[in-house]
Amino acid sequence: MGGEGSGIMSWKKTAIRLAAGALAALLLALAVFLTIFPRVSAAPHMMVDLSEARIKRGAYLFNNVMGCRGCHTPVIEPAAYSFPTDPARTGAGRLMGGPEDGLPAPIHSPNITPFELSGWSDGEIYRAITAGVNRQGQSLFPLMPYQAYATLDRRDIEDVIAYLRTLPSQNGHQPENSLPFPLSLLVRTAPHDAASQPRPPETDKLAYGAYLSRAAGCFDCHTQANNRNQPVGTPFAGGRAFPAHGYVIYSPNLTPDRKTGLGIWTRARFIGRFRALTPDATRQMAVPAGSPNTPMPWSELSGMTDTDLDAIFTYLKSLPPVRNDQPMVQLEPGRDMPKAAIPSDSAKN
Ligand code: HEC
Ligand code: HEC
Repeated sequence: MGGEGSGIMSWKKTAIRLAAGALAALLLALAVFLTIFPRVSAAPHMMVDLSEARIKRGAYLFNNVMGCRGCHTPVIEPAAYSFPTDPARTGAGRLMGGPEDGLPAPIHSPNITPFELSGWSDGEIYRAITAGVNRQGQSLFPLMPYQAYATLDRRDIEDVIAYLRTLPSQNGHQPENSLPFPLSLLVRTAPHDAASQPRPPETDKLAYGAYLSRAAGCFDCHTQANNRNQPVGTPFAGGRAFPAHGYVIYSPNLTPDRKTGLGIWTRARFIGRFRALTPDATRQMAVPAGSPNTPMPWSELSGMTDTDLDAIFTYLKSLPPVRNDQPMVQLEPGRDMPKAAIPSDSAKN
């Protein structure tokens, strides 16, 4: 009997040892994971040149190309078409959305005016924009498009930093973002060191247009993505889902397919569509609460130069045409057709 009892005892001991071993292995794996990721180098030593020319180009990239203004500035209320932002509060940050908008948790864009960044070195800001970690080395949620910015010309990022240094300070911190488990761990695998590539000359329209279409998020938004936010499927063929409260907007096809893409679009129509949607115009275009509003940052992109829009158009027209019959707006069952949806310019053409 005693033998049986001690048998149970030793079996229990073995089980406890095994469990302790498994737990130790798990903790060790976690410790190794936490030391390896995020896998980024120290912030580079750099001194950004604050010349007028570089600040001016930085302003253009920040406000009209790279989307910084749209994400890091409070939008005017009530929201108007394409969420025009409040010019008096540039860079103050805001609540970007939550689970109703397809985000894993409420996500805030931080204040990126000198109020917040004056203590950061130029290299730390460069690393945040291109590699995706903050000053303390913590991973940024990749809604901040650092994976796209990683491939841009270092001079362009430096120009943006020069402009950031000149922004009027906006008081107030945005709340820190906290991601649910296991995303809180997985997000550590997203940051990577920048792989900067030179900006092609404007005269090489195709290469320059391709470069801009990445800098301006056209590629990211107009290509389907998987649930880890990675592009899948044909580049620029559209179909990326943007869920919002009760509806989903799918980005349209930008390949030159004649039926479902830009096939019959002329250069004038393409540039004209942007020009029609300046912040002055969009601020007047009220969108009733609950109706679909476009995620496409028309208000900012409307300020791109003719040269740049022309290069993007030329590049898009050079892509192989792909058909994509995905409708642009889909409502959740039981919802009425929206009152103000997506204005169309087709009548004008
Ligand atoms: C699509 C929206 C979006 C765009 C576009 C965007 N950001 Fe961000 N950015 C964010 C969000 C959200 C965070 C916070 C991520 C987190 O906390 O995990 C962030 C974080 C940052 C940070 C880190 C700040 C801190 O205190 O940790 C900097 C710096 C920054 N962005 C600068 C920029 C600049 C400069 C641009 C344009 C070149 C830009 N961002 C474009 C959404 C965006
Ligand atoms: C944040 C995501 C996002 C970004 C960045 C973005 N788009 Fe869009 N775009 C959309 C969505 C969604 C639509 C559909 C709603 C609409 O027409 O506004 C759209 C619509 C369009 C249309 C109208 C197509 C049609 O059939 O009416 C064109 C043209 C276009 N985008 C081109 C571009 C180009 C060029 C860029 C880069 C300079 C770009 N987009 C950047 C999401 C985006």
